[in-house]
Amino acid sequence: MWYETALTKTLNIKLPIIQAPMAGGATTPELVGSVSNCGGLGSLGAGYMDAEAMRNSIHKIRELTNNPFAVNLFIPEPVDIQERKVRTMTETLQSFYDELGIEQPPLPDVYGPQFEQQMEVIIEEKIPVFSFTFGTLENKWIDRLKANRTKMIGTATTVKEAKQLEGLNVDAIVAQGSEAGGHRGAFAGSAEDSMIGTMALVPQIVDTVQIPVIAAGGIMEGRGLLASLSLGAGAVQMGTAFLPTIESGAHPLYKSALIEATEEDTIITTMFSGKAARGLKNEFIGRLKSVAVDEVPDYPVQNALTQPLRKEAAKQGRAEWMSMWAGQGLRLTEVVGAKQVMDRIMDEANSALRRLQN
Ligand SMILES: Cc1cc2nc3c(=O)[nH]c(=O)nc-3n(C[C@H](O)[C@H](O)[C@H](O)COP(=O)(O)O)c2cc1C
Repeated sequence: MWYETALTKTLNIKLPIIQAPMAGGATTPELVGSVSNCGGLGSLGAGYMDAEAMRNSIHKIRELTNNPFAVNLFIPEPVDIQERKVRTMTETLQSFYDELGIEQPPLPDVYGPQFEQQMEVIIEEKIPVFSFTFGTLENKWIDRLKANRTKMIGTATTVKEAKQLEGLNVDAIVAQGSEAGGHRGAFAGSAEDSMIGTMALVPQIVDTVQIPVIAAGGIMEGRGLLASLSLGAGAVQMGTAFLPTIESGAHPLYKSALIEATEEDTIITTMFSGKAARGLKNEFIGRLKSVAVDEVPDYPVQNALTQPLRKEAAKQGRAEWMSMWAGQGLRLTEVVGAKQVMDRIMDEANSALRRLQN
């Protein structure tokens, strides 16, 4: 069949569709299990989970499916606490904390879950597929993952990054185009210089590396799948299309905002986390517009400064202050079950193929 590729064979999946890992709660075990049961590859975004939460989710996924699935982590970066920037940002954010009626907590001693502990779970649980973003992976982990026969997928936003990942002996590379929702995976250059559209990025990476490439960014349906395979990709990775599904753990207000939004409604911002990410424009981003980009503390410090605010905003139902990551294919979102999304993608791809053949 046209949709069988070298990558579907490597990953032992039927359909060349990967549901993107989405850290922050959207990729519930139910979503991951449902996509994997349909023959795609469900992925758990575990970047913000501690070891115990990861283990629980993995066990839950295994109860829901016998098919392969992926778990995804963030490669840690050195933490640079730029005190002057932190002081100014803390003052800027105070009005949000006041309006929400909560204290602004001090910066944490430790930033996010510990990567080593997260990796031990990946190794102990013998995960079928491990994907990662924001960097490269140390050899000690690669060796242990290979010994477990865990397939590895890195994320690149440029050809340079793809070459670095290929040098690590990973099994496939996600080519993340600038249309993509969520954080930019850029690690070898600046996020601005790495804003290459999916259509331009995928064939250039395909022509450079010998391993399978996965197209990501703005792909919402069957035409995007077919186009990506035509560009030489072995599969697509789709995030935004799965965000408003019934199984997704995204906040109900986030889901409604996605359904109403159009391609004009997203922006790349560093204001939520200190790292460039594409999300829906909202009041939070608008109010911080006067803050110069180089005055925002780096990731993960800015992430820690805004996290309690975003959590409380979600609790109080204030979507205007939540981070709502989204890609540019927004008109094509719908609230249905993940299986319906999967069926629709394959139906559309088959009709697009028939149209081309006629
Ligand atoms: C809400 C959200 C969270 C995301 N979190 C992650 C993540 O934890 N790890 C990762 O590798 N990619 C993450 N991404 C990026 C996706 O892997 C993928 O590149 C992107 O969703 C593709 O673009 P699309 O949203 O237009 O389909 C996230 C994307 C979204 C929309």
